[in-house]
Amino acid sequence: MFSISKRSDVEPFHAMDVLAEATRRKAGGHPVISMAVGQPSHPAPRAALDATRKALEEGRIGYTDALGTARVKSALATHYRDRHGLDIDPARIAVTTGSSAGFNLAFLSLFDAGDAVAIARPGYPAYRNILGALGLRVVEVPVTAETHFTLTPESLAAAEKEHNVRLKGVLLASPANPTGTVTGRAALRALAEHCSANSIAFISDEIYHGLTFSGEETSALELTDEAIVINSFSKYYCMTGWRIGWMVLPERLVRPIERVAQSLYISPPELSQIAATAALTASDELDVYKASYAANRDFLIRRLPEIGLPIASPMDGAFYAYVDVTRFTNDSMAFAKRMLAEINVAATPGLDFDPLEGHRSLRMSYAGSQAEIAEAIDRMATWLK
Ligand SMILES: Cc1ncc(COP(=O)(O)O)c(C=O)c1O
Repeated sequence: MFSISKRSDVEPFHAMDVLAEATRRKAGGHPVISMAVGQPSHPAPRAALDATRKALEEGRIGYTDALGTARVKSALATHYRDRHGLDIDPARIAVTTGSSAGFNLAFLSLFDAGDAVAIARPGYPAYRNILGALGLRVVEVPVTAETHFTLTPESLAAAEKEHNVRLKGVLLASPANPTGTVTGRAALRALAEHCSANSIAFISDEIYHGLTFSGEETSALELTDEAIVINSFSKYYCMTGWRIGWMVLPERLVRPIERVAQSLYISPPELSQIAATAALTASDELDVYKASYAANRDFLIRRLPEIGLPIASPMDGAFYAYVDVTRFTNDSMAFAKRMLAEINVAATPGLDFDPLEGHRSLRMSYAGSQAEIAEAIDRMATWLK
């Protein structure tokens, strides 16, 4: 009998498990409202859908260059010029099968097995799981209200000391999942400078850019050409299922990434690259969706504490409320399961994001419709009484 690898023994991504159970219940006729997974309920922008239809009529969808078509890379360079005033050479851009593929490519090209990489706790669970599956050492650095729930040079130095390691990489998301924290320009600069001074690769996950409600949204590219920036069409652009994202790389990393990408993925999906190019022109439409998340955010900031669920982190950006459930339970996993079974409201247990303290919290996505979110909160208010 063959054996199963130790590297595959990663934690399940509980949000995906909750989504699967919610989908099963929905198919069984239950009136499920899902606030479990971070995906907009809006469709991809009209321009993306039109471009896709046209491409399908023309017919042939094929492989492209491993790092994406010249068209989408040039459109992304224009995006950096328009949004950030930056002149990015399209040759530094790599288009990927979602930001998830970007993490694989970055980790494989930057690190060797056993290298130590720091991430924030709480933080996006796939970081931990991908790093673990690739045989890298995950250094989880706790973030708290004192430092606005972000990493600092001091917390990184303390983690190196505590774990007796030299970091090879640091990965930071701003806005962050699940805390919603936006790392301000000065704090981001301090981190980038610390990484540069200590030969640490600085990976900036900017997937929630475009979805900042308070605080300043800074791309690491505005501060240094050495940052490895990862981004995606999944969130602001409402294109989760299209599996398309991108990276902006320091020049000397482009060829290593390309070599690994050629063999791992051949190329990102061409149809999605066509849609993504068009989506970059759709900010008028997408900003209307953003306004609907902002309204949901205001509603939750008011209502969640009223029903006994204080908000545990800033909610500056992204579309999550990370709430403290300790008034009702010390086991957020059991709480989430019961909530889904009894009132058909799906949310994600904090253990996904924080293996140590997550039993006290729950993450609720507010990317869905205003009516559904209001209905979910009504059901929870009655249930929690
Ligand atoms: C912080 C963060 N990074 C990356 C991803 C992965 O996104 P995708 O692979 O769809 O681009 C997510 C998804 O929720 C996320 O929250």
